[in-house]
Amino acid sequence: MNAVAICGDWHGDARFARKMIKTLSSRGITEILHCGDFGYGWDADYIPNIDESLNKHGMTLRWVPGNHENYDEIDLLYDHDAQRMGMNGTIYVLRRGERFMIGATSFVGIGGGHSIDKDRRTQGVSWWPQELITTGDVYRIMSTHRECDVVIAHDAPLTADLDLRNGYKDDPHSIGNRRLLGIIVDHLDPLFVFHGHYHQRHSTKDHLDRVVIGLSDNRDWFNNNFVIFDCDDKKVIE
Ligand SMILES: [Fe+2]
Repeated sequence: MNAVAICGDWHGDARFARKMIKTLSSRGITEILHCGDFGYGWDADYIPNIDESLNKHGMTLRWVPGNHENYDEIDLLYDHDAQRMGMNGTIYVLRRGERFMIGATSFVGIGGGHSIDKDRRTQGVSWWPQELITTGDVYRIMSTHRECDVVIAHDAPLTADLDLRNGYKDDPHSIGNRRLLGIIVDHLDPLFVFHGHYHQRHSTKDHLDRVVIGLSDNRDWFNNNFVIFDCDDKKVIE
């Protein structure tokens, strides 16, 4: 079976991440897809730490940026086609709209989300405007991509009703980001959308009956942070 784990926000919590990597390895998982707020660019030891753990267990990880990442550093990686990171090269940051295959399943990664606390942050230091999906992203992705089976996103499409206890992200920027993501999702027409950002495990459907699954973060119950996805049969198995 060709299975991957899909994980929600880790927020740079290396201890949680290492425990997750070890647990998933014990279940035979060799690849993690991460839905953002991975925690890039805050602590210089984070990537070497995660890379060492992944390498030790023979695993790799691909991630989409969330909103709490250093986008200036990420853009430098994109500019130099240097998306693979870590001394062992186990970690790979996806571009917004990047497509890849695992087994029989086609994935597209779409990072980005709005920081509702940005007024308390400093641009270029603790907040980056690149965190938001743009209309340019929408046009680019819609002009170059066919359908896919799974979208790995940080935010959730506006076309899915979210019944969340943290139902506080209803400001115009958050709604706008979700609206643009929803347009992209309608174009890609996946079977599943996985996302983080809301720090709560949930499952719902969008307006066209696609399954939308939200994953919790490093501060919640461990098992709420991941699902196991079968890339041969295209279904969630845990
Ligand atoms: Fe987060």
